[in-house]
Amino acid sequence: MAVGIFDSGLGGLTVLAAVQSRLPEVEFLYLGDNLNAPYGVRDSDDLFALTVRSVNMLWDRGCDLVVLACNTASAAALRRMQEGGLPEGKRVLGVFVPLIEALTERQWGDNSPPREVAVKHVALFATPATVASRAFQRELAFRAIGVDVEAQACGGVVDAIEEGDLILAEALVRSHVEALKRKMPDPQAAVLGCTHYPLVAQAFQEALGPQVRVFSQADLVAESLADYLTRHPGMLGTGAGGYLTTGDPGRVSDRAAQFLRRDIRFAAA
Ligand code: DGL
Repeated sequence: MAVGIFDSGLGGLTVLAAVQSRLPEVEFLYLGDNLNAPYGVRDSDDLFALTVRSVNMLWDRGCDLVVLACNTASAAALRRMQEGGLPEGKRVLGVFVPLIEALTERQWGDNSPPREVAVKHVALFATPATVASRAFQRELAFRAIGVDVEAQACGGVVDAIEEGDLILAEALVRSHVEALKRKMPDPQAAVLGCTHYPLVAQAFQEALGPQVRVFSQADLVAESLADYLTRHPGMLGTGAGGYLTTGDPGRVSDRAAQFLRRDIRFAAA
């Protein structure tokens, strides 16, 4: 029995670590499409095709529920997949909605009309494709009114992380935060809208300052998944857990161990 977790590469491991710690009795089958990462510079049709292919791989291995632990894939493909119709008994969830529900002080799955919320100025850091999609602003508008969002496309950060160059990634974070602050000098909250960014979360927090609340997507996704599985206990699937990559398993395993500081062995998808 396993729940599928999908990301373009290593970023979804930040979500995986949180869901494993929140749901220790559940098995997870992780798939990183490292061969095609980064996703954040691709167009939406390309992202849709790559995401559908990866989700199908996880469904074929017995997962009934797949979490798109990738904002870029969620932004480009989630609604399109759900609206196009899913195979019988299969479900796919994204990582945007739990984050927005937390930001707008909602219970998980609360679909009541939009209302005023405490936070008024939000900085969104995400990949160029996620920023271009405006999916975050669209989902936010369904739930809140009067929130000013300034989005910063963080070019290069994911590439640097996938290459294992955290010094470059942190330098890029500082320059993207500076660029954001030129547009919005005093954000109240910051959303790290890419699952790779928790790996450089400290650099974001330091550059933003202690007064800015940085939302941790991984923990919010873990809480919302726990709630979903309580309401849908039949979605645990039939397959076995593990780690799959479309890239080079040895190289991806080394990078994963570097980031999560534990031994993780990937197999070829
Ligand atoms: N980690 C992914 C996200 O959450 C995308 C990174 C990429 O491949 O560009 O957006």
